[in-house]
Amino acid sequence: GHHIRPLVAGNWKMNGLKDSLGEAVSVRDALTGPLATINADVMIAPPATLIASFAAAAAGSLLRIGAQDCHARPSGAHTGDIAAEMLKDAGATAVILGHSERRADHGETSAEVKAKTAAAHRAGLVAVVCIGETQGERAAGATLNVVSRQLQSSLPAGATAANTVIAYEPVWAIGTGLTPTPGDIEAVHAAIRRDLSESVGVEGTKMRVLYGGSVKPDNAAALMAIPNVNGALVGGASLKASDFLAILRAYE
Ligand code: G3P
Repeated sequence: GHHIRPLVAGNWKMNGLKDSLGEAVSVRDALTGPLATINADVMIAPPATLIASFAAAAAGSLLRIGAQDCHARPSGAHTGDIAAEMLKDAGATAVILGHSERRADHGETSAEVKAKTAAAHRAGLVAVVCIGETQGERAAGATLNVVSRQLQSSLPAGATAANTVIAYEPVWAIGTGLTPTPGDIEAVHAAIRRDLSESVGVEGTKMRVLYGGSVKPDNAAALMAIPNVNGALVGGASLKASDFLAILRAYE
């Protein structure tokens, strides 16, 4: 098959004050030093307040800076929201969309995620589109149906391997220290790959499909070795540069 360059992205969620710039600087420096030959793209998605300062620190380096959400419209009367164009302006190159915490806390539907993904593309940002089943859905044997439905309804026309990344995050694996078995992850990623090939075509065969949910230094290499796992979306373990760098070593 195609060689797909992996992406390891850190999702900082609502964590990080300005004194955490040092963590981003450590990752940046490692990418030009000890991890200069890492075979993966690397991104940190800090809270919106830190995007500009992190982007300035990462300028000219291999480290990319992402955002965690955007509004679907380019501007207007939407108090508290941020347009994809503004994130681009601040130095982001990508935006995480449809994370399960946004689907749960803000009632985001796949239709809204689709509109936001189209907005990211319009602004020239890579969209990292998150999908994944709850514990109840897994227990009911509905995982593949749920993931397939979310995938089909979250992707707009015009999604390519260059402008879109899928992140499979089982909701019950987020922040819990639990992960599916390698076999279960392989089955879901294979199903996502089949769906992408059928619905998106050749671009879907090249699109990155990340795994997320309790990725840690001690399980990263095993998780990243699973077929059709093209990188990771890392939460808690991305907050400390030393942990995040240990995870990147899966791609040394
Ligand atoms: O988006 C990444 C996240 O939801 C996973 O979080 O803390 O389980 O790595 P964590």
